[in-house]
Amino acid sequence: MKVLVTGGAGYIGSHCLVELIQAGFEPVVFDNLSNASRESMARVEQITGQTVSFVQGDIRDAQALEGLFTAHRFDAVLHLAGLKAVGESVAKPLTYYDNNVVGTVRLLEAMTAHGCLNIVFSSSATVYGDPQTLPIDEAQPVGGTTNPYGTSKYQIERMLGDWAAATASARVIALRYFNPVGAHPSGLIGEDPQGIPNNLMPYVQQVAAGKLACLSVFGDDYDTIDGTGVRDYLHVVDLARGHLAALNKLAQMDPGKTAVNLGTGNGLSVLQLIHAFEAACGAPLAYKVAPRRPGDIAACYADPRFAQRWLGWSATLDLTAMCEDAWRWQSTNPSGYSPA
Ligand code: NAD
Ligand code: UD1
Repeated sequence: MKVLVTGGAGYIGSHCLVELIQAGFEPVVFDNLSNASRESMARVEQITGQTVSFVQGDIRDAQALEGLFTAHRFDAVLHLAGLKAVGESVAKPLTYYDNNVVGTVRLLEAMTAHGCLNIVFSSSATVYGDPQTLPIDEAQPVGGTTNPYGTSKYQIERMLGDWAAATASARVIALRYFNPVGAHPSGLIGEDPQGIPNNLMPYVQQVAAGKLACLSVFGDDYDTIDGTGVRDYLHVVDLARGHLAALNKLAQMDPGKTAVNLGTGNGLSVLQLIHAFEAACGAPLAYKVAPRRPGDIAACYADPRFAQRWLGWSATLDLTAMCEDAWRWQSTNPSGYSPA
């Protein structure tokens, strides 16, 4: 099965590549390297012992997509390419709608023109906004998004649904990721954020490595187990395996669009995550309580039962593996993919 992987050089994409190659799929990566480097592809080659087919290009570039779909006959697309920084999306909304939404329009046009009608899309739990009940199942309302990044994911999901309804035999799976963390157990690939990380786990990793002095815990007065924010962290290797399950499902599902949560179902507080990471890295982490971050919600965790029932997928790697693998990647690659 030949699979186009947009955004395949990024954090989640590189982990998907390893699982795809090891399962015998033939991936072709299309990435503009706006938030990734070629080195991640070299590392995937090192892990798998196989050459990765890579094309540098932008999903908004219709001509580049035409060339790509002419050169390859894809059975399916894993569509991970996108910008993902929430704060930046508030400052530059048009950049986010252009890159994420318009980019997906161009991609769907090329797929339609070439009769490739199977797509797995990287959506996010952010489409649920502030959830009405916990755990969050797929029947909960979507669209109450609070920032342009989240709204772009919601709009793309709507568009994929409309495209599937209008296109005979089109099959769409939107994977709503909860909070991916960790790294491949080899320590060769992982998350390599540019500048100061926005998300909790990469920030924790850099405090543990001595690159950042102190973690700010955003709020300790939420209605949660210890007052800090609760999230559903899942190992990126589990997440990558969820993509394999989705690709396999495309061949068996009815035409149309289906959305699936990918999470563990376990809510974990900021303090619980910090303490698990301290155990993994063997040292205490400096942190202080700071005001709540605007736009944050108290708690968000998945009802993962539909993924288990429909995809035959569930998370298998625990919090210890998430922290130990993240720490192995961080401590052996202190500058990420850049030369030290
Ligand atoms: P990432 O930034 O590491 O990967 C995204 C990749 O897409 C990068 O390699 C980037 O260079 C590429 N890209 C961006 N715009 C492009 C364009 N116009 N054309 C071609 N390539 C482009 O991010 P990630 O964490 O691996 O996320 C992958 C996907 O999953 C994104 O769509 C993201 O929104 C979604 N997602 C991520 C998370 C998370 O916590 N990491 C959670 C939910 C959803
Ligand atoms: C964030 C995004 C969400 C996106 C997701 C995955 C926001 C508001 N939401 O989710 O849209 O889909 O990332 O990329 O940015 N925290 C700290 N200190 C820090 C960083 C985070 O205490 O330095 C806390 C947060 O308040 C939260 C938890 O850690 O309670 C997780 O935060 P984060 O990793 O940023 O993920 P989300 O907020 O869930």
